[in-house]
Amino acid sequence: MGEVSPRESVFGYTGPAAKAAAVAVLLLGITVLLQVFPERIEAAQGSRELVRKLYFLPILLASSWFTGRGAAAAVAVATVACLGLFGDGWPAGIEEQIGRVGEVGVFWLVGSLSANFFERQRKHFLEVESANENTLVALASALDMREHNTGVHSLRVADYTIRLATEMGIRDAGELDILWRAALLHDVGKIGIPDDVLLKPGALSASEWETMRRHPEIGHRMLGKIPFLKEASEIVLCHHERFDGSGYPRGLAGEEIPLGARIFTVVDVYDALTTERAYHSAAFHAEGVEELRSGAGSRFDPEVVAAFERVPFEEWAEIARKNQTVLLRAQEAEPPRVKEPAMVPGSPPAG
Ligand SMILES: [Fe+2]
Repeated sequence: MGEVSPRESVFGYTGPAAKAAAVAVLLLGITVLLQVFPERIEAAQGSRELVRKLYFLPILLASSWFTGRGAAAAVAVATVACLGLFGDGWPAGIEEQIGRVGEVGVFWLVGSLSANFFERQRKHFLEVESANENTLVALASALDMREHNTGVHSLRVADYTIRLATEMGIRDAGELDILWRAALLHDVGKIGIPDDVLLKPGALSASEWETMRRHPEIGHRMLGKIPFLKEASEIVLCHHERFDGSGYPRGLAGEEIPLGARIFTVVDVYDALTTERAYHSAAFHAEGVEELRSGAGSRFDPEVVAAFERVPFEEWAEIARKNQTVLLRAQEAEPPRVKEPAMVPGSPPAG
């Protein structure tokens, strides 16, 4: 994903529109309140001064949420209100007038300094997040190279997962970030699986298969210790669960399985089928979809499979192309040559 995903909310609403509305309501409220204490009434001077100081609140909020331009817009409104352009607000005495101009100057100073501070904070956050994501991508690629002789499997399924998640109605940037990281690192636990099991060319014995089935829990333990990957670790733990409860490690069923894991399972199997593996050549898209359809309700969540089918082939092919992979739409010349599976019968083709 590679983008900041601010998750602050304003009374339950998120996004720039909610934040802009909050700043506008504050500015309007303070300006209206100023009119309650007219300049010509001596006794209201203290209250007016107090109310004018409230402008610092929307100015700081606008600086934090929108940096330079947001701060400038908020300060401009405060300036207009304080210079008496709204109603009866301009003092008669020269000293008071100078004081008022000074007050407005402080608004501009605070607005520009805070905007500069928040802008630097934002850049620093972006750099740290970018460095974190590059590290995760490098780790996932290294694991892919070890198992698949290519470094793009995890990136490809991560991108597929985001597309399918949006088709399922997930729009929140924070949730999508969690899904992307979980998909990218789904098999990170295989780092704890010995080479003679992970890379064994023939079928696995029962005890080797037991060893292999430990990788979701190993991955969960690894990622669960890292705060910004903790939520992703729950999806990693469940990425081999099946909708009918016959998966592992906990045998969860239906909605007991996190939605992110139900989404990921579908794209992981699709990817395993439609790309070249040690035990089969790449199947066509139509065959991959048929396999998903046949597993809907048993292995896969039927709603997720239906969402997968709603996405046009061209979109899947474009995501694959960006990840150095060619998807084949349907059988045109000759059927794919399916080789004997390398794992024990009934084991999932996905990683
Ligand atoms: Fe796996």
